[in-house]
Amino acid sequence: MKASKTELQKKYKDFQKLKLNLDLTRGKPSAEQLNLANSLMTNLSGAKSYKLNDVDIRNYGEIDGLPDAKKLGSAFLGIKPSNVIANGTSSLNLMAAMMQTLYFRGNGDLAWKERKKISILCPVPGFDRHFSLCEEMGINMISVPLTGDGPDMDLVEDIVKKDKSVRGIICVPKHSNPTGETYSQEVVRRLAKLPKLGSKDFMIFYDNAYAVHDFSKSKKLANIYKLCEQFKTTNNISLFASTSKVTMAGSGLAFIGGSDKTLKNFLSYFSKIIVGSDKVNQARHVKFLKDSTALKKHMEKLSVLIKPKFDIVESYLSKLPEGIAQWSMPTGGYFVSFTAKPGKASKIYKLCFEAGLKLTPVGATFPYGKDPDNQNLRLSPTQVKNSDLKKSMEIFTLAVLLSE
Ligand SMILES: Cc1ncc(COP(=O)(O)O)c(C=O)c1O
Repeated sequence: MKASKTELQKKYKDFQKLKLNLDLTRGKPSAEQLNLANSLMTNLSGAKSYKLNDVDIRNYGEIDGLPDAKKLGSAFLGIKPSNVIANGTSSLNLMAAMMQTLYFRGNGDLAWKERKKISILCPVPGFDRHFSLCEEMGINMISVPLTGDGPDMDLVEDIVKKDKSVRGIICVPKHSNPTGETYSQEVVRRLAKLPKLGSKDFMIFYDNAYAVHDFSKSKKLANIYKLCEQFKTTNNISLFASTSKVTMAGSGLAFIGGSDKTLKNFLSYFSKIIVGSDKVNQARHVKFLKDSTALKKHMEKLSVLIKPKFDIVESYLSKLPEGIAQWSMPTGGYFVSFTAKPGKASKIYKLCFEAGLKLTPVGATFPYGKDPDNQNLRLSPTQVKNSDLKKSMEIFTLAVLLSE
């Protein structure tokens, strides 16, 4: 039976009285997920030698990472180990360093700093930190819609052909943040060919943050680098990934991949801002994620914890009346993207906030923090306990109904 508005309002007021403090703002792993990687804390203790790949892991050096760490990175990026750099803990940090490289040194053409205007295509809704990074660097962001199979490539190609200020595109090709979509084979093929239509220094920032993060049977992502080899565009792509959502967020390993030329150019800049790489953490990770079988097994254990959270979200959303909203049903990654009726997102956000549920601010999933239709909300269900997630979803769906 459908609840009346008065009944919904009463339920809402009852939630407000509970003074809850619930949070679905960020895609963080839960404590249970992190516990599965706890052996990283001790797995080097008692070691007889602090050498790996014949390198003393305690010293400076190996800015591009230990061979075994590069090998691990190659499993994430789908590119051979010699074309991978393992350095630091954050792929976002490596993307920022890549952008700085282009800003100061260029990529086979004028440095960005010599140009009046640099524009980057941003598929939307997308990852807020990509947008804030571009904004910080003074890059003009051009939104292009995602279709469920990746960006609208007709529009992307059209803009790249016409707008000479466009120097790249930022993509999250698998279990995209927040839409959860995985790019189709055709989109990946057209992306690999895209630099042919654009500037000589066109750069595809290919952030494969959720490369191995399936929790259900997922669409396979085509190997873009192999396609770039076919189209001779390997100097126009940089690939990124990390183990932030695999082992420990903020204490994992981060990877960047690219052609010999791209990585050499990158290292010319990067070696000015760091002396070596953290090989102690690399050794810990290599020991923990020994090979692709160990990685797969670990991801399966994580999926047992993660999938029920997405099932909870779906079980609440599916009870909403038809036509009131749309939402993604991802098979991996960390987010559900909720599309309300135009103009409703801020109201839903406010109602949630005032009932003790924090959500990612409206607009965060768009360049400049502005959702042109005020309708997208991102839900991040992984970190909270299942009981809190249920309460959160009850408030969220109540807010959606009350926003009508
Ligand atoms: C698409 C995407 N890229 C990068 C990151 C951050 O990764 P890292 O911890 O490696 O900087 C995130 C985190 O949520 C993400 O969603």
